[in-house]
Amino acid sequence: MRVLLVIGAGPGQGAVPSLIAALRRREWAVLPILSTPAAASCADLWSSLCAAPVGFLDAPPAADVALLAPCAVPLPPAVAALVSHRRAAGVPVVSVPTASAPARPGPRPAGAAAWEVVPAALPLLGGGVAPLWLAGPEAVAEAVAAAVTRPDLAGKGILVTAGPTVEDIDPVRFLSNRSSGLMGLSLALSAWRRGAAVTLVHGPLQVAVPALPGLEAVPVRSAAQMHQAVLERIAAQAAAILCAAVADFAPRQVAAQKIKKTAAGVAEDPTLPLRRTPDILAALGALPRRPFLVGFAAETDHVEAHALDKLRRKGCDLLCANDVTEPGSGFAVATNRITILARDGSITPLPLLSKSAAADCILDRVAAALAP
Ligand code: CTP
Repeated sequence: MRVLLVIGAGPGQGAVPSLIAALRRREWAVLPILSTPAAASCADLWSSLCAAPVGFLDAPPAADVALLAPCAVPLPPAVAALVSHRRAAGVPVVSVPTASAPARPGPRPAGAAAWEVVPAALPLLGGGVAPLWLAGPEAVAEAVAAAVTRPDLAGKGILVTAGPTVEDIDPVRFLSNRSSGLMGLSLALSAWRRGAAVTLVHGPLQVAVPALPGLEAVPVRSAAQMHQAVLERIAAQAAAILCAAVADFAPRQVAAQKIKKTAAGVAEDPTLPLRRTPDILAALGALPRRPFLVGFAAETDHVEAHALDKLRRKGCDLLCANDVTEPGSGFAVATNRITILARDGSITPLPLLSKSAAADCILDRVAAALAP
């Protein structure tokens, strides 16, 4: 994808290098242009960071999306002319002002080609505020991706569970698992780019959740907390995608103090009594009025047979199965090879994909199922 980056002048410029890095990490071509002569002082820097020559406002190169960052409010006339020209040509425009602008809550309006990332203010020591792109470069890059994505889930509530749960033994010890949360976050972002109102209920993650309007992150710790957070929010959802690696067992009791190995009653080779945690997916599958339900299955053998059994047992519409023993699939890697099983018995194996691309394939199925 080609991103036309219209770089404005002003204090927000300090964040442009990290923004360029975030755009290029997604393997997009970044074509820089300077919005005012004052912005030209760093032309060589922009050119080398983007690995592209700095273009001219009156002859901008062709691109799939235009990104104004930081952008002045109101826009300089030459930039306003470029914006209206691009919009007329059907090119989405994303603007990131750093000065105060009205907040734009909620997800992207259906059919909207433009997206505005709301700026935030950083309180300064000694009083006053400094304009800042508090949303951060990842959030801006997501907004750019959203601007070129068909909003086929506009206004639909999508709940995603992600990450591990943590079951405390005592104040310093716990039971958990190797889930990083990357697959769940990828699903949440894919749904968000399509215009959904996303609720991400997650355990402790090894990945950062970008601050985006229309993406509500609900951090929890234990399976019981995740269960409660999901049930409280489920009525508003059109679909729920349960990707979290929920601990199946938790200690029967949580000790209020650290368990000392020398304490009376602690054996030389102690055992830890466990109890089953609530099965959140099965609980949703049993609801009389339930949203479209997508489950995950991490398997190590007989993947399709176990997954089909899990789909029926837990009352899912779709089940995404992966063989966690396969290299490049499962925990703590950036890729996944998923097979999507459906209630009607159809089986769709996906190739080895980035978790983001795999999430897009899963959301394609969800969007098709929710289409009127
Ligand atoms: N899941 C859940 N609540 C639980 C356990 C699992 O919601 N307490 C969900 C997971 O988020 C996933 C699906 O159920 O979508 C399957 O999880 P998995 O651990 O593979 O299945 P289990 O129920 O643990 O089955 P088994 O132990 O037989 O593999």
